Amino acid sequence: MIKIAVLGYGTVGSGIVEVIKTNQKLIDERAGEQVDIKYILDLRDFPGDPYEKLVVHDAEVILNDSEIRIIAEAMGGIEPAFTFTKRALAVGKSVCTSNKELVEKHGAELCELAKANNCSYLFEASVGGGIPILRPLVNCLTADHIDAVTGILNGTTNYILTRMDEDGADYETVLKEAQEKGYAERNPEADVEGYDAGRKIAILASLITGKDADFEHVYTEGITGITPEDFVYARAMKRVIRLLALYREKNGSYYAYVAPAMIGRDNPLYGVRDVFNSILVHGNMLGNAMFYGAGAGKLPTASAVVSDVVDCVRSVGETLPGGWSREKLPLTDHRSRAKRFFVRVSQQDAASFTEVFGECEKYESLVESETGFVTPEMDENEFEEKIAGISGYISRIRIED
Ligand code: HSE
Repeated sequence: MIKIAVLGYGTVGSGIVEVIKTNQKLIDERAGEQVDIKYILDLRDFPGDPYEKLVVHDAEVILNDSEIRIIAEAMGGIEPAFTFTKRALAVGKSVCTSNKELVEKHGAELCELAKANNCSYLFEASVGGGIPILRPLVNCLTADHIDAVTGILNGTTNYILTRMDEDGADYETVLKEAQEKGYAERNPEADVEGYDAGRKIAILASLITGKDADFEHVYTEGITGITPEDFVYARAMKRVIRLLALYREKNGSYYAYVAPAMIGRDNPLYGVRDVFNSILVHGNMLGNAMFYGAGAGKLPTASAVVSDVVDCVRSVGETLPGGWSREKLPLTDHRSRAKRFFVRVSQQDAASFTEVFGECEKYESLVESETGFVTPEMDENEFEEKIAGISGYISRIRIED
């Protein structure tokens, strides 16, 4: 029997307990030992909860108990999760987490600490919720050079964009509905401004390259400026608008950024709707592989944490592969990556747009008093220089094929 502790009894923490209790028999069989939850750490009491007797309020009880070999951390945020994780790893207790903020910020140090103490720091649930993506990257795609990842990594924004597209509603209306349904936080900034997806693409870039990609250097542009008119054009172009998180490696330059983009029917991500997430991975031998599923939610996220717990039970006393070094990954400014742009300008400036950009694919009479264009490929500096001269410029969305 192996004793574990769960830190945090909120949505994910209670999900971890539920997953283990519901699937106890098969989890034990797969782990090769009985997985027994000895403690649940939380500041609160849970009177009437079937596991209320396991609840402790002092982390010292867990950290000082030599019987505890594995900790499932579902506290979220940097502190006190960082301190507890360091202390656990320092005494050889493996830690499995869904905490993407912590993984992104201190993943290199925590993986190093795990290795020095013959245990593991695993974080499958931190990217794509319940979708297995980190384990395939670390354990399966070992024959490939991964040069591109394109992800829909945030369920909240994918839900909002899907509803705007399919119901013709505006951003504010759909956000309010998403908040009422519990799909969006009361303060939705981290999701709608692309920060959540930015942290996830930083984790993927770090894992793929073995070097530490900083979220602070990942350009993020959110969805708050997307309007119903943008979808009118997108539909005419047989495209959808999605918030994409991109990682690209080209000629030794690394790019990681998050921005809304138009994608066409040939893109495998085209059909990813509502709260679902998907990650399209390109390997130089493999070509494309796509991973799809529930990117958030209590049980899917908990399922991923428990799958890490099972891996840790199978490998007590060892460090599982994965993680990255503290060496920084230099990220190249996303603006130097060439792409096409969908651009809206006032109808009266359509002629000057064509003068500056040349003959472009054109969409007229879809929205009153304006014209839509698709530019040829160019980098963002060139685009910005050219568009600066067009006074009737309304907006632009990148096109990613
Ligand atoms: N807020 C996140 C999302 C939850 O909407 O995808 C999972 O990280």
